Amino acid sequence: MTTTEPADQLKRRAAEAAVGHVRHGQIIGLGTGSTAKYMVLALGDKVRAGLAIKGVPTSTETAELARSQGIELLNHDQAWQIDVAIDGADQVDPQLNLIKGGGGALLREKIVAAAARQFIVVVDASKRVPALGGAFPLPIEVAVFGWRSTERQIQAVSDAFGYGGTVLLREKDGQPFQTEAGNYILDLHVPRIDDPAGFETRLNEIPGVVETGLFVGRTDILIVGTQQGIEVRQAERR
Ligand code: A5P
Repeated sequence: MTTTEPADQLKRRAAEAAVGHVRHGQIIGLGTGSTAKYMVLALGDKVRAGLAIKGVPTSTETAELARSQGIELLNHDQAWQIDVAIDGADQVDPQLNLIKGGGGALLREKIVAAAARQFIVVVDASKRVPALGGAFPLPIEVAVFGWRSTERQIQAVSDAFGYGGTVLLREKDGQPFQTEAGNYILDLHVPRIDDPAGFETRLNEIPGVVETGLFVGRTDILIVGTQQGIEVRQAERR
């Protein structure tokens, strides 16, 4: 009889494999979410065993976990030379483009991924999709000021791309969810995003859009935790 491992085991497997890429003396971008949590825990084990690294956390939650693991953190205003950033994703397409931001940390996550020489994405097999969109909405971080106008323009761009769909203000406990930067998140529900690169560019041209959860052409290595073990894919180019 074969047993099916829970998603958490697959996340842990991918995260631990990613930590195998970390070298002594490096600066590591620390992602956010339930998969990234396993990466921070595995790094903590290595630090306690003598590995010297410094971390750049993408959220307060990750910063607290990293500190509890004895991982030294760099301040926000230091000039980072991030060697490797490791983070989870909500969806991964066959070109290794991502939707991120389910946890609302997409702005810092994108800044850290962009600042890293190598970006490693860790997911369980359920995150792989033939095309972005559909079951998972695209998070878009927007300034609170004028957000209803920004929402209208996002809808217009989505309609112009032929994606249609609906834009919903993310809420928490009956109130608008606010990111660590004090912005709102608009979740764009569309059936399918056929042109993630063009869509990301166009959305980012809207004044009021701070950043989108589309990570296009940023993944260097994808590590997928599966029932059979891990699968690794390298991007052809960045
Ligand atoms: C946080 O804002 C997100 O981008 C997460 O990295 C993403 O949602 C993946 O999270 P899980 O590993 O918890 O699925």
